Amino acid sequence: MKQLFVAASFILICLPAFGGDLAAGKALSSQCSVCHGKNGIAKDPESPNLAGLSALYIEKTLVDYQKGMREDRRMSIIAKTLSMEDIKNLAAWYAAFEITVKEPSM
Ligand code: HEC
Repeated sequence: MKQLFVAASFILICLPAFGGDLAAGKALSSQCSVCHGKNGIAKDPESPNLAGLSALYIEKTLVDYQKGMREDRRMSIIAKTLSMEDIKNLAAWYAAFEITVKEPSM
C-alpha cells in the first residue's frame, strides 16, 4: 500500500513537468515567431512549421541542436539559450495547435 502511495505521488509530481506549461510556452514563443510564424506556421520559406508537431519531436530536436547532434547556424545558437523547462514549455505550446490538412485538388 505504501509503495502504491509513493508511486502515485511520484506520478503526480512528474505530470506537470512532463506536460509543460502552455502559458509559459506561449510567452517564450514570441522569440521564435520571427522565423516560425506567430502561430507556428512559418512565413519564411527556410523555416519549418512548428504548429502541430509532437511535443516529443520538438523536445528531441531542440536537445539535438543543443548537443550538436543536429546543426543549423540559427537553431544551434537559439537552442543553447533554452533551459530544459523552456524546451518542455515550448514543446507543449506548439504541440497543442490543432492542424487540419486538405489534400490538393488535381
Ligand atoms: C532566425 C530564425 C529562427 C528563429 C528565431 C527560431 N528558429 Fe527554429 N528553425 C529555424 C530554421 C531555419 C530551422 C530549420 C533548420 C534546419 O535545417 O535544421 C529551424 C528548425 C527548428 C526546429 C526543427 C523543426 C523540424 O521540423 O525538424 C524546431 C523544433 C525549432 N526550430 C524550434 C524553434 C524554437 C522553439 C524557437 C524559439 C525559441 C526557434 N526555433 C527560433 C529558424 C529559426
